[in-house]
Amino acid sequence: MTSEVISGVGLGLRSCHYQHILAEQPVVPWFEVMTDNYMGAGGQPHHYLQQIAAQYPLTFHGVGLSLGSVRPLSDSYLDRLVELIDIYQPAWVSEHLCWSANTQHNSHDLLPMPYTEAAVRHMSERISQVQERLGRRILVENLSSYVTFAESEMTEWEYISEICQRADCDLLLDINNIHVSAVNHGFDAREYLAGMPLARVREMHLAGYEVQGDLLLDSHSQPVHPPVWQLYREAVALTGPVPTLIEWDNAIPAFSVLEQEARQAQQICQEVADAA
Ligand SMILES: [Fe+2]
Repeated sequence: MTSEVISGVGLGLRSCHYQHILAEQPVVPWFEVMTDNYMGAGGQPHHYLQQIAAQYPLTFHGVGLSLGSVRPLSDSYLDRLVELIDIYQPAWVSEHLCWSANTQHNSHDLLPMPYTEAAVRHMSERISQVQERLGRRILVENLSSYVTFAESEMTEWEYISEICQRADCDLLLDINNIHVSAVNHGFDAREYLAGMPLARVREMHLAGYEVQGDLLLDSHSQPVHPPVWQLYREAVALTGPVPTLIEWDNAIPAFSVLEQEARQAQQICQEVADAA
């Protein structure tokens, strides 16, 4: 299915739900596909994704570009991404404002950047390269983080705003990540929201965290927590309705649990619209 228009609350496509989706054909407005799980040429992932793509709009969400790294962007990764876009026609492609690999090692983590002019320039140039290669704008996602850099020269929201403007890219606003980082680093999530380039937001993410001592861990293993629902309500009031994703990556529950979370997000959007 060509994914030209995406709206409402979608779900992250996970392999444990393939058979349920194909057997039950649940009403879901769209699925977000973890692109890195489909970099191979065939096998079960593509067997199922082809069938799901025939019935549902898709978006692509990647973790492997390592946009902030100093090593060159991977031509082979980008070539494969172009092929996958041709095959599955996602409505959009998103990645993270992070780095995960240097010239020798890949941490497989989404690591934060210092908020400096040099990092803004580096990140925005790399996003521009990707957009040129793909022939389309991409969405970039704000991270959750557990450390800050003494070298930082600006706030996270100033850093992201500047990158989006220079690269002229779109924004995937992860509401859970804002809350997690706000608690971990002691900033005001409302000030963060107010400082973001909200006109560029094309998607929001909702997920659950774990409490570990004084820190919140962005585990994607729990239902969305009350403070994140509240921040989502405030974000939607600022942006208007934006396609939203329920993102669950660990301890993945029954499909019905994801559907319930999606209904709650939809309900909040309706309440915000009614109050406007
Ligand atoms: Fe996310």
